[in-house]
Amino acid sequence: MNATTADPRLAGRALRRVAFDEAQIAGRVREMGAEITAAYPEGELLVLGLLKGSFIFLSDLVRNIHRPLQVDFLVASSYGDAMVSSGLVRLLYDPETELEGKDILLVEDIVDSGRTLNRLMDLLIERRPRSLEICALLHKHIAAELRHPTKFVGFDAPHEFLVGYGLDHAEHFRHLPYIASLK
Ligand code: IMP
Ligand code: MG
Repeated sequence: MNATTADPRLAGRALRRVAFDEAQIAGRVREMGAEITAAYPEGELLVLGLLKGSFIFLSDLVRNIHRPLQVDFLVASSYGDAMVSSGLVRLLYDPETELEGKDILLVEDIVDSGRTLNRLMDLLIERRPRSLEICALLHKHIAAELRHPTKFVGFDAPHEFLVGYGLDHAEHFRHLPYIASLK
């Protein structure tokens, strides 16, 4: 697609480039849904979306998982500057669903340093799930600190600041149907 400053959603900001367009995202999310369906032949699956960034990805993903499941969300807050993850994470909303004994799939928009996920995984493991895996739409592969491997990854992300399809810059651009870097 031709996403330029002409896109009224951009409020005049220019894009450097579209990294992943709508069709690419839709195709990959369908494949990921099939992988996840095959990976969980039995058991109670709970898909846990990490808000806010995962909200669009999660809504498309669960519609491509063809087995019973439940959906809940986590809201985590990291202290300090939003652009640099501090690794200090606190839960602002705790899932109401029982986690013990369930297969938990934690859904994240993008893995950058991995610090947010490290902390969340520690918190979730204490709830004694049957299994706990990470599904991320994007992975920057600079997450030297991530102790838990990301089992399901959509795309290797370029080392640029990306917006759209849930990803924000200062809370803007989450509603773009494509993923782009800003100029
Ligand atoms: P980490 O703890 O460094 O892995 O940070 C991950 C979080 O930082 C993600 O959930 C996003 O909210 C945010 N983030 C990292 N990279 C980007 C980006 O390129 N665009 C928008 N948000 C990002
Ligand atoms: Mg963010």
